[in-house]
Amino acid sequence: MTDPRVARSNALYARAQQLIPGGTQLVSRRPTRFANGVSPVFAARGQGARIWDVDGNEYIDWATGILAIILGYCDPVVDQAVIEQIHRGVNFSISTEVELELAEELVRTIPCAEMVRYTKGGGDACTVAVRIARGTTGRDKVLFCGYHGWHDWYLAANLDAAASLNAHLFPGIEPIGVPRALAGTAHPFPYGDTAALGTLLDEHRGEVAAVMMEPFRSERPPAGYLDEVARLTRAAGAVLIFDEVSTGLRFGLGGAQEFAGVTPDMAVYAKSMSNGYSFGAVVGTRAVMEPAARMFVSSTYWSDAVGIRAALTTIGELRRRNVPAQIAAYGEQIQQSINEVARSTGCPVKCGGLVQYPQLQFQVDDPHLKAKVVTLYIQEMARRGCHGYASFGLNAAQGAAELQQTTEAAREVFTLIAEGLHSQSIDRLLIAQPQQETFRRLVH
Ligand SMILES: Cc1ncc(COP(=O)(O)O)c(C=O)c1O
Repeated sequence: MTDPRVARSNALYARAQQLIPGGTQLVSRRPTRFANGVSPVFAARGQGARIWDVDGNEYIDWATGILAIILGYCDPVVDQAVIEQIHRGVNFSISTEVELELAEELVRTIPCAEMVRYTKGGGDACTVAVRIARGTTGRDKVLFCGYHGWHDWYLAANLDAAASLNAHLFPGIEPIGVPRALAGTAHPFPYGDTAALGTLLDEHRGEVAAVMMEPFRSERPPAGYLDEVARLTRAAGAVLIFDEVSTGLRFGLGGAQEFAGVTPDMAVYAKSMSNGYSFGAVVGTRAVMEPAARMFVSSTYWSDAVGIRAALTTIGELRRRNVPAQIAAYGEQIQQSINEVARSTGCPVKCGGLVQYPQLQFQVDDPHLKAKVVTLYIQEMARRGCHGYASFGLNAAQGAAELQQTTEAAREVFTLIAEGLHSQSIDRLLIAQPQQETFRRLVH
């Protein structure tokens, strides 16, 4: 069923499916990831904490541009810097000085950064990092934990008979189009289990170029875990790469590595680093990065001054406005308000995780029923002007109005869910198709 409120969104999506294989450019933007039929599918514009869909509905965007927005939509300072850059020109036949200014900023700010390279997004930044690690070590294999994009090196993990990514992240992903010759080159390891990582490193002794991982997403890493990962990786002569694309600079200007207190050999960033403008960065120690001068790692738009200017200005604004501290304080307020609403409505849900990325955990045992409850939450919040998943992606434009609107909406929605569970009528309340479990995160 579909909601007439989003008629134009759904009509456009029907057209998109005829013209765009998969319907969207990013899996996380697919309507099946939200409340399909009720959630907005096409945005017309955004401002601050909010977006407007093509049907004219206004929403607080709690998915915050799939974590790409950290200051808010159309941040006036970043946009002004970008507009001035556009007027000077964005892509020349020679380099621009802003490349260096950003390099100096990243080296000053991020613990492991001594040299840097740029890309246009997260997946290609991961791929550049893997290429450099392979080139520097002269080894081929990669052990990984987390989501690292769509490229061959990563999806190669699913060429194995055991279909490694099935258990790891994406059940049912077919590595269609990935050369079979890459089988055995990428192996996942389970988060939090240093013994499993040690065993894999032993099995592939002398062959592992890199251990690539999301250091954490929304839960604090177990005490000592990342230190032990670093120790094992270095003992095996491999390069430790932190994929900080999702965490970005929300946890502090020095990134997830500074927050966790463990410095890797390389790290990759994208998404929020440039407040939504297309940009990615690969940073690392001189020893690991310098050999890249001899590797063929090269692309026209990696010097595009729009993304680089946006990143430099975003980092400056994060520092000037003390955004990581603001986000942490705001996330704490969200958790408190939502947990108070959960208690007072009797809805079996808890808002937990790190305060920088609050997560809703519905305490429903049956996984099918739970998927329906989560979908019902997304559906009913969307109808009350709150778009997102069952989590709160934070940005600096969210304030008291967003907290109040969301708390009031959650009060109504949690009441509805509590009654629906009590009277076994969740199915009757669902307009949307139940959310499909296509994207299970191994790193929480
Ligand atoms: C941890 C992580 N790495 C890599 C990527 C891929 O980035 P992109 O979608 O910009 O290619 C993502 C995207 O969600 C991510 O969360």
